[in-house]
Amino acid sequence: MSRIEKGRVVDRRWVATAFGGPEVLELQTFAVPEPGPGEVRIAVRAAGMNPADAKGFAAGPGKDPSVLPKVIGLEVAGVVDAVGAGAGFEVGDEVIAGQVRGGYATRITVPAADVFPKPAGLDFAQAANLLLAGATAADMLHTSAVVSGDTVVVHGASGAVGVSLLQQARLLGARVVGTASERNFERVKAFGATPVRYGEGLAERLRQIAPQGYDAALDTVGTDEAADVSLNLVSDRSRIVTIAGWARAERDGFLAVGGTTPQSREFRERSRRALVKLADAGDLTVPLARTFPLDEAPAALELLLGGHPGGKLALIP
Ligand SMILES: NC(=O)c1ccc[n+]([C@@H]2O[C@H](COP(=O)([O-])OP(=O)(O)OC[C@H]3O[C@@H](n4cnc5c(N)ncnc54)[C@H](OP(=O)(O)O)[C@@H]3O)[C@@H](O)[C@H]2O)c1
Repeated sequence: MSRIEKGRVVDRRWVATAFGGPEVLELQTFAVPEPGPGEVRIAVRAAGMNPADAKGFAAGPGKDPSVLPKVIGLEVAGVVDAVGAGAGFEVGDEVIAGQVRGGYATRITVPAADVFPKPAGLDFAQAANLLLAGATAADMLHTSAVVSGDTVVVHGASGAVGVSLLQQARLLGARVVGTASERNFERVKAFGATPVRYGEGLAERLRQIAPQGYDAALDTVGTDEAADVSLNLVSDRSRIVTIAGWARAERDGFLAVGGTTPQSREFRERSRRALVKLADAGDLTVPLARTFPLDEAPAALELLLGGHPGGKLALIP
């Protein structure tokens, strides 16, 4: 929540002050802008967390220091507390917002075009995590042209994008076999897919589960194993899609998609309303691993960066 100090509302947000790991984050006070025409201000009840949050300020070659200090957080859920002219929302509306900049905050002002009613069946922490993983999964299924009757392998089926893929592929009528650690097999099964352990012998295990073969491979992991197994099982490279194995996609002639490429960006923007509708109807859910107080964002990011968060994470102001 925003703090009241000397009768004034004080808002806080996390900012990366350098490139590096969670240790470069600082919780700063800031003046959240009043919403202009077509904008709404949201009192954040939960900030969704994605690996991209940490990648945005990770150290590495060719980083542009002019982007620092950098706000963090790409999606939120909360309650509208001020509206600009023509925004189409009212104070008190429960909403979610995607493609925001600086969601790790107590309040945020955003374009109303990126704001949607919160699906009733999701709590704030779940709803804050619906759009980015959901739109990514929708983009992967669209790009790989998955249709009813297809058999699909999903690498990283227990992850955030993975479980959204399982749910959306099932709605399309596809059969899914998904790789995961054994401790996450129940989650994969809960979404109607067949779990399989990744690691040595993966291609053979997958062949045994679906001897008739695989129509498409969707990779959320980006390992050489995921690329090799996909190439081994799916002959049509236009039906192998990764969101994390860019170098192998380029080298081996399969597809990589990301939110910054114009085609994917447009598709993902368009898909958000449908995702909200699916969640509203109870057809799409967001398994949550745990929540952290906003003040503990660095610890939450450490867990996320470990690669096995066990579901979605959210920060609660
Ligand atoms: N290009 C894009 O548009 C886009 C969009 C969203 C995300 N991404 C990227 O996609 C990746 C996944 O994102 P996410 O949000 O789904 O992450 P996540 O929720 O942290 O899930 C990661 C999953 O990877 C699995 N995993 C970890 N190590 C593995 C290995 N060696 N082999 C196979 N599976 C392994 C884990 O499964 P177990 O715990 O069961 O082992 C875990 O479920 C991240 O790199 C993210 O940055 C890209």
